[in-house]
Amino acid sequence: MTSTPKTYHVKSFGCQMNVYDGERMAELMAAQGMTAAADADSADLIVLNTCHIREKATEKVYSDIGRVRKNARLADRAAPMIAVAGCVAQAEGEEIAHRAKVDIVVGPQAYHNLPDLVAQASAQGRATDTDMPAIAKFGALPARRKTGPTAFLTVQEGCDKFCTYCVVPYTRGAEVSRPFAAIVDEAKSLVDAGAREITLLGQNVNAWDDDAGTGLHGLIAALDKIPGLARIRYTTSHPNDMKEGLIRAHAEVEKLMPFLHLPVQAGNDRILKAMNRSHSRDSYLRILDRVRAARPDIALSGDFIVGFPGETEAEFRDTLSLVDAVGYAQCFSFKYSPRPGTPAAEMDGAVPEEVMDDRLQRLQAALNRDQAAFNAASVGKTCPVLIERKGKLPGQMLGKSPWLQSVHLTTDAAIGDLIDVEIVRADPNSLAGVAA
Ligand code: 5AD
Ligand code: SF4
Repeated sequence: MTSTPKTYHVKSFGCQMNVYDGERMAELMAAQGMTAAADADSADLIVLNTCHIREKATEKVYSDIGRVRKNARLADRAAPMIAVAGCVAQAEGEEIAHRAKVDIVVGPQAYHNLPDLVAQASAQGRATDTDMPAIAKFGALPARRKTGPTAFLTVQEGCDKFCTYCVVPYTRGAEVSRPFAAIVDEAKSLVDAGAREITLLGQNVNAWDDDAGTGLHGLIAALDKIPGLARIRYTTSHPNDMKEGLIRAHAEVEKLMPFLHLPVQAGNDRILKAMNRSHSRDSYLRILDRVRAARPDIALSGDFIVGFPGETEAEFRDTLSLVDAVGYAQCFSFKYSPRPGTPAAEMDGAVPEEVMDDRLQRLQAALNRDQAAFNAASVGKTCPVLIERKGKLPGQMLGKSPWLQSVHLTTDAAIGDLIDVEIVRADPNSLAGVAA
């Protein structure tokens, strides 16, 4: 591809931060005068915003690249310009550029340079940028102008924790917090553009801080004052950064939703140590006790890994008993996947695939049971629901409860309305309601 692309399509995989980055890349291209294509197969420029956290990420990128090119050939179109962005680009950029001969490779800390890279690729056929300047990109991105009722806002990036299984410290770099004023400005623009709920994002969002020691709770207090903003959420948090101020905010700030995603990964202390989690089973449970004391109705969420190298059946059962002790509202659980370059990838004691499958199944059965119980307990209650989109049936709308449960109901309320809803039925993954 040598001509300058006029239309773009961004396809994001993985976490919410990638969704946010994808939106910002789209805004950047729009600010260059490019227009959004109807779909990937009609775009002149396709950005694959990739995830490297688990399993076969790289193979997926290659097969996506292959499919995009094949569809262009079948439709008799010129091959589109392909940009590989995100964490796979950061981790394996050189390799991808060589093997798949993509036009652009751009890392998660360099995507503000995308317009230059597009120009460079148009002129020279190839461009790569995987530099990691600390948080330079945000200052170089256009202001937010478009959003639905719920918006993401990245406040912190990177990770210094170095859990032994995780690639994030290598792909996203060191923990860096964006400046307070820039975040408050972006939140105001999002609210002006129609956001009623903002989710603050960071790989260790509760480690967010500034020189004044404001802390995430101070930032939340500032957002609480923005008129028109109704709800504040934050994700993902690390147990070690769960400070008293933030726990108190759950008792004191009405706009802060009663939901906490606090990954624990495993329930056994030997495994937690081998994972370099720097918290124990007990210290984690004690944090949850304090959070629950501050906000008794809080919905708790977490991440789990089964089959970490050397994990025995007895150690896995400690994870099951931790789940029983907590009573989570919803969780994510994964089979351990060795990530190239991480310490755990070099550890002995690989757990056989079928053992991991069995453990994952048992863990998910326990988590599903608790999620169903949490949802069942909502039946008969009335709660505010933020309407996010239309449902499949005529007159049906979908929204979220304060506890992040999906709620569907028939109503003439519009997208962005916050209405009181009585919950009448609990299904495994959603609640049915009627406008109260
Ligand atoms: N294997 C399996 N799961 C992983 N996660 C992170 N790295 C790995 C890995 N190598 C999970 C953790 C983390 C979530 C985002 O992904 O549970 O909290
Ligand atoms: Fe990865 Fe651990 Fe950092 Fe989370 S805290 S991003 S799991 S290294």
